[in-house]
Amino acid sequence: MAKDRIISPTAQKLDDSAAPPSLRPKRLDEYIGQRDLVEKLRITLEAVRQRGEPMEHILLHGPPGLGKTTLAHVIAEEMGTRAYVSSGPALTKGGDLVGTLTKMQAGDVLFIDEIHRLPAAVEEYIYPAMEDFRIDFTLDTGLHAKVITYNLKPFTLIGATTRAGLLTGALRSRFGITHHLQYYDEEDLLTILRRAGRTLALSDLDDGALAMLASRSRGTPRVTLRLLRRVRDFAQVRAAGAMTAGAVREALELERIDQQGLDEMDRAYMRTIAETYEGGPVGLEAIAATLNEDPGTLEDLVEPYLLQIGFLARTRQGRKLTAGGLSHLGMAAGRGSAKGRSAPSETGEGELFP
Ligand code: ADE
Repeated sequence: MAKDRIISPTAQKLDDSAAPPSLRPKRLDEYIGQRDLVEKLRITLEAVRQRGEPMEHILLHGPPGLGKTTLAHVIAEEMGTRAYVSSGPALTKGGDLVGTLTKMQAGDVLFIDEIHRLPAAVEEYIYPAMEDFRIDFTLDTGLHAKVITYNLKPFTLIGATTRAGLLTGALRSRFGITHHLQYYDEEDLLTILRRAGRTLALSDLDDGALAMLASRSRGTPRVTLRLLRRVRDFAQVRAAGAMTAGAVREALELERIDQQGLDEMDRAYMRTIAETYEGGPVGLEAIAATLNEDPGTLEDLVEPYLLQIGFLARTRQGRKLTAGGLSHLGMAAGRGSAKGRSAPSETGEGELFP
């Protein structure tokens, strides 16, 4: 279910490669939002360029879809080098990295997505690569084992993770820059949408439509750009190309994305807490079992935004819906109230898509 969500920030690999690459910023100057990080990067980039060194290793963490991969490409572009992209689960043994590491030129970027899923064997392998730009590989086993050291060109490792807490201290300490990416505010999403509108030559795009899209994109550029494409399709086929607020409303209603930008999965998660567990507190495992979902998926893809908008609270006893969360489902807060609905429709969603 999670992988098919239109707003799922991770299920976009195909979509993204099919999208015009120009929707992604190429240079730091074009990168919108994440101002603290951009400022830190600007300073370090200039400093290392002056000294003729590679960029520091960087660890980016935070919810998916906020631009971690994009930043890796931007940094390589700023350094005038290449970016090689891999991911934790794709690297199963130490040797998997040898080909790439030995091919990389000075200053190149190695981007490892989901770095928290790197197997221990690979992780140990990259310590000397990060620290001393060398890799040691063992030839043969037992008595005849021989360690060969290969010197690498100085490179930059950029690691991305949605779960910084799962990284070993040893790996984390080897990054020179660590940064948590924040959700984007509506103003920044609007700027990204306007830029995309120009790139895609969308002339019939009004400001009300863009503002509505920005407000329903859960603070995530990847989501906002994907919704823009859905609205463009809808407007082209159903609204004579006019991308008005009305077209946005109808297109998003078709996708079951509500006023807060929440989709069926978010609401199913919230309804489980509200109805099965009377508003909480309840453990994540119990919610996941009821929904037949993987707890990690809920923790990565559903909970962060509900926490951000204050619909969900994480307490020592477990997850709990807030009064705002309950009210979004059309339920009143208060004693035993999670059971009592005040919404007009059977699902309590009658007012979510006005
Ligand atoms: N497109 C997607 N994310 C972006 C960002 N942060 N800045 C500019 N354009 C973007």
